[in-house]
Amino acid sequence: MKGVLICGGLGTRLRPLTEVTNKSLLPVYDQPLIFYPLQTLLSGGITEIMVITGPENIDQMTGFLGSGSKFNCKFTYRVQDEPKGIAQALGMAEEFAAGDSICALLGDNIYFDNISQHIRAFTGGGHIFVKQVPDPKRFGVVEVDADRVVSIEEKPEAPRSDLAQTGCYLYDNSCFEFIRTMQPSARGELEITDVTKWYHQNGKLGYSLLKDEWIDAGTFESLHKAAILVRERKLAAVKPAVDKITASV
Ligand code: G1P
Repeated sequence: MKGVLICGGLGTRLRPLTEVTNKSLLPVYDQPLIFYPLQTLLSGGITEIMVITGPENIDQMTGFLGSGSKFNCKFTYRVQDEPKGIAQALGMAEEFAAGDSICALLGDNIYFDNISQHIRAFTGGGHIFVKQVPDPKRFGVVEVDADRVVSIEEKPEAPRSDLAQTGCYLYDNSCFEFIRTMQPSARGELEITDVTKWYHQNGKLGYSLLKDEWIDAGTFESLHKAAILVRERKLAAVKPAVDKITASV
């Protein structure tokens, strides 16, 4: 399986923070945002990763991430000239995938669940990760019945559930055949939700429900919340040093 880190878009909701840098390079407590989805791919055993970003930020991205040797992986870079959607970005990874399945991950998504075993266990079709959210209208909304997906809709006016499709997509290589046939949505983008829907229509879509926190850090509030959560978890994991005090009389 190959990894695709999708860091396109202009980050308009995070201006002026994103005027000189890509959203994925903004700090989340003590690390740049992109380290979190990168860690998700690495922990899933993925070592060949394509990073896709806009022309405004490709220099910074390559300068910062480098060849991948410092992360024990290998990066390949591609520029998405215009922000024409996540599925369009993914389509650019067809040659890189070279027949393999892919794990596409959005560069602003932080998973607190350990999803590595799902990535490693993927065998074919499509698989998504859903999370209960208070504001489903902002996301692709997934309706489920026990272990089956019933429907999936991008940013619906009247959501049928409070389950969001999160930004990690496991697809077999047939996604590329479908992407080549796609048409832009009303907002002028090739929608990743249409790719997921295609697997659903073909009876090949599985899902996992996330239990821990998940953050799409595309707004000031969610970016801030991400930093607070990361800090809390890090501090909780650090055992307090035992001070050895020698009493001197
Ligand atoms: C994208 C997808 C949406 C998904 C979300 C997760 O939305 O289109 O289905 O729920 O990522 O982060 P965007 O953040 O590009 O609006």
